[in-house]
Amino acid sequence: SRRRLTLAIESSCDETAVAIIDVDGKLLANQVSTQIDFHARFGGVVPEIASRKHVEVMVGVVDAALEEATAALGLDGGVLEPSELAAVSVTQGPGLVGALVVGVAFAKGLSLAAKIPLIVVNHLEGHLFANLLTEPDLKPPFIFTLVSGGHTMLVHVRAWGDYEVLGETLDDAVGETFDKVAKALGLGYPGGPIISRLAETGNPRAIDFPRAMMHSHDFRFSLSGLKTAVVTYIEQEVAAGRTLNLHDLAASFEAAVFDVQFKKAWEAIKLTGVQDYCLGGGVAANPHLRQMLTEKLGRRGIRVILPPQGACTDNAAMIAEVARRKLERGEFASLDVDADPNMTL
Ligand code: KG4
Ligand code: ZN
Repeated sequence: SRRRLTLAIESSCDETAVAIIDVDGKLLANQVSTQIDFHARFGGVVPEIASRKHVEVMVGVVDAALEEATAALGLDGGVLEPSELAAVSVTQGPGLVGALVVGVAFAKGLSLAAKIPLIVVNHLEGHLFANLLTEPDLKPPFIFTLVSGGHTMLVHVRAWGDYEVLGETLDDAVGETFDKVAKALGLGYPGGPIISRLAETGNPRAIDFPRAMMHSHDFRFSLSGLKTAVVTYIEQEVAAGRTLNLHDLAASFEAAVFDVQFKKAWEAIKLTGVQDYCLGGGVAANPHLRQMLTEKLGRRGIRVILPPQGACTDNAAMIAEVARRKLERGEFASLDVDADPNMTL
């Protein structure tokens, strides 16, 4: 028999993730299998490896999710079968094309075999909907900042599905910049968590790094100059025979990135007159960014909503949040749907 459950698959980059959500938004399973260890030695995600790893682990992650949901529902008549689901959903894009194709092909196969409808989800909308895991009653209009490994975007969410992109990065994404700085310091991959841990005990005012586009009076960002400034600083210190204070460096780098993020978010809020603000993408896991925006915007009377810390980096729970609403609306995809690596909001 059919249950009002949606299974969601996410494979756009280096996490193979599967979640199962019920019609009311209760998360019954949330599995993530990360490939980070396989990519770390190369200092970044190797697309070919990502695709192969998704193929390797996909069935196991889906099985684990079905078992987790079975336990959560307290079923004792055996493990939940795919044919008992109301729909299967999958990230269609954006992301690495070979990685996306694995998820899309698997979801199509599951749809065909289990005779359940297929739903496709935009990964960026998934990062936005991660906020609904914290605040299910969140309603537009509001301002949303997406800061991930691939994107840096300031968005005016006018209504669900009506997204006005106010500005984007002209070069590198914020997460990408964290990764590149960590790589320049030989600290490993991904850089975000490493740098944010170092920054905990650093002085954010120790080094005055450039705040590019801070006063550009628009909502565009530029991060590549900051990356160059950090690399130049490291080279100068090393050449002068001084030992780097990694904590101060990390904290000062974060401050340069986050000052610009706050300034532009606040300007977007004032321009649109919204009362609510939310954040998404891997960098939204950063404790300093979370705390700073909550404090500074909170002080200005803005309600700040953040995704659960564990739902900022890529996961399938956020894909499931989008999919269950599409299920309610009967928004299904046909079986000839393709992965779309260049999808935007
Ligand atoms: O959203 P995500 O998992 O993948 C994309 O859709 O791109 O974001 C990954 C990015 C990486 O660049 C990673 O370094 C960054 O998020 N990240 C962080 C933190 N945790 C992950 N950046 C800053 N601080 C963190 N704590
Ligand atoms: Zn992502």
